[in-house]
Amino acid sequence: MRPSLLADLSSIVGQAFAAEGLDPALARVEVASRPELGQFQSNGALAAAKAAKQNPRALAEKIAARLKDDARFARIEVAGPGFINIDYTDAALNDALAGADAIFAPDAGGTRGRVMVDFGGPNVAKAMHVGHLRSSIIGDALQRHFRFAGYDTTSDVHLGDWGKPMGMLIAEIKRRQPQLPYFDPETTDNYPPESPVSMDDLEVLYPEAAARAKADPAFDEEARIATAELQQGRAGYRALWRHFIDVSIAGIKREFASLGVTFDLWKGEADVDPLIAPMLQDLKARGIAEMSDGALVVRIGEPADKKEMPPLMLVKSDGGVLYETTDVATIIDRVRTRDPDLVLYVVDQRQHEHFEKVFRGARKAGYAGKAVLEHVGFGTMNGADGKPFKTRAGGVLKLFDLIAMGKQEAGARLIEAGIGADYPEAERDEIARQVGLAAIKFADLSNYRLTNYIFDLGRFARFEGKTGPYLQYAAVRVKSLLRRAADEGITPGAIAIRAAEERDLALALLRFPDILEETLKTRAPNVMCDYAFGLAQAFSRFYTAHHILSEADPALRASRLGLAALTLRALETALGLLGIEVPARM
Ligand code: ARG
Repeated sequence: MRPSLLADLSSIVGQAFAAEGLDPALARVEVASRPELGQFQSNGALAAAKAAKQNPRALAEKIAARLKDDARFARIEVAGPGFINIDYTDAALNDALAGADAIFAPDAGGTRGRVMVDFGGPNVAKAMHVGHLRSSIIGDALQRHFRFAGYDTTSDVHLGDWGKPMGMLIAEIKRRQPQLPYFDPETTDNYPPESPVSMDDLEVLYPEAAARAKADPAFDEEARIATAELQQGRAGYRALWRHFIDVSIAGIKREFASLGVTFDLWKGEADVDPLIAPMLQDLKARGIAEMSDGALVVRIGEPADKKEMPPLMLVKSDGGVLYETTDVATIIDRVRTRDPDLVLYVVDQRQHEHFEKVFRGARKAGYAGKAVLEHVGFGTMNGADGKPFKTRAGGVLKLFDLIAMGKQEAGARLIEAGIGADYPEAERDEIARQVGLAAIKFADLSNYRLTNYIFDLGRFARFEGKTGPYLQYAAVRVKSLLRRAADEGITPGAIAIRAAEERDLALALLRFPDILEETLKTRAPNVMCDYAFGLAQAFSRFYTAHHILSEADPALRASRLGLAALTLRALETALGLLGIEVPARM
C-alpha cells in the first residue's frame, strides 16, 4: 500500500500513547479541522484520559513531551482540554515528496482482495436513459478506484434481458408479423439468421407494447405467457429473443464507448437461467424456500427488523421467475466463477429493498460464500422542477442525446472563452467531447451519491467553480507550463519547501493516499472530487504567489517546477480515477 501521512502519524503518536500505557489505537491523527490549528491533530488523549481516569490536559502534555524530540516535527502543541496539534518540518515534507511519484502509480497485482462491481444494468430493447447514467458514472469511478488501489476487480454490466419486457416484445411482434417462423409451434430450428428487428425498431416497439399491455388485459396476458414460455425454453421465442439481445448489445456497447465506460463481463440475467431450476430444487429440498399462495418464497424477516420484511419471491404462481430469482442465481454464479470477497451493486437507491431481500435470501441459503454483498445506492438526477429529469417533450432523456448535449454546451463554452480558436477542427471537436463528458461526469460524481441533484448543464460546463471543465483547464495550464519549461531547457528538480503556499500544496499532494482509501471505504467518489478541486485551488494560490519559470535562483525554480509536475501527476490521477480525461491543450 502507498505511504499514508495519517497512518504514519497515527503510528508515531500511537507509540507515544503505548509508552504512556494507553491504547495506541486511540491516537488516531487527522488533518487539522481548521488551518489555523496547524497541519494535523490528535484528539485521542481525551478518550484515553477518560479510560485511564487521568486529567486529559496533563496526559496530552506527557504524550506531547514524548513527541517533541522527534526531528520530523516542527511543532507539537497541546491546545484546549487536551488536543495535540502537530506540524511536520519542511525537511520531513521534502523527504516525503521525493518519493511521492510512487503514490500516484497504480498498485499492480490485485493482491488486496477480489471485488466485483455490478453497474450499468441497461435493459435490452429499451434505450439507456439517465437513470442508467448515474450507475454507469459512479460504477465506473468505483471500478477504477478499486483496480488502482490493488484489488482484483471485475465489472459486470448485468443486462436486464430476462423479464416481462421480453415477453411483451415477443407478443407485440407476433401481433404485427404473425407469419414469422418464430411463432410457428411446428418449427423448432433453422430460424433466419438475420434479425427481424433493428435497435430502432425495438425502441419503438417496446413503448407501444408496454402501453398496449396497460390498456389491454388480454395482451398483457399474452405477454405474461410469452415470458413464461421464453423462460421455459420455447425454441422460437429463444431464437427471436437472441436477436433482441444481439441488436441491443451492439447499441449499448456504442453508448458505453461514447461515455468512456468499459466492462469486463457482459453477462445478463438470462445467463443464469440454467442455474435457476437446480437452485429452486435445492432451496425446496433444504426447506429454505416454501410454497405460499402458489408462489415459492423464502422468509427473510429478522427479529431486529423495524418494519416487516416481505418474503423473497422466487417463483410466481404462474411459474414465471422474477428479477429477484435471477439476482440470487447470479450470486451463485459469481461465487462459483470468481469467489469474490466483495460484490458492489451500484443501483438506484429505490431498489434498496430488492437488494436487501436478495442478499438475505442468498445468505440464508449459504450461497454468498465469503462475499460481502453490498448495495451502493444513489439518488436521482432531477429537472428544475425537482422531479426525475425528463426532456422538454416529457420523455426520458437518452444517454446518447445527453452526451451530445454535453458536447454541444462545451463547444459553445470553448468558443466563448476563446479556447482553441486556432486549433484544427478535429482537435477542437475532440476537446469539446472531453470537456462535455467531464462536465456531466464531475457534476454527477461531486454530489454525495445518495443526494439527488438538479441537472443544469449550463452550470456543469462552466470553466469557473467546482466543475469538471475547471479541473481540466487547471491541469492543462500546468501541462503548458511544463511544456514551456521543457522548451526553455528547465527541468523539474528536488522539492525544497520555503513558502506557505508551497507547504500547503505539498500537504495537499501528500494527502492523496488517504483520500483514495476514504473514497474506497465510503464507495463515494465525491471524496476524490473534493480532493481534486482542493488541489487545483492550492496550486492556483501557489502559482499566483510565486514565479516559476522567471525565478532567478535555479534550485528554487527547479523545486517549484517539481511541485508543478507533481501537481499535474496528482490531478491527472485523480481525474483519471473519476473517468475524466485531460486534453493535451486547451
Ligand atoms: N436492469 C436493472 C434496472 O434497469 C438494473 C440491474 C442492476 N443489477 C442487478 N444485479 N440487479 O433497473
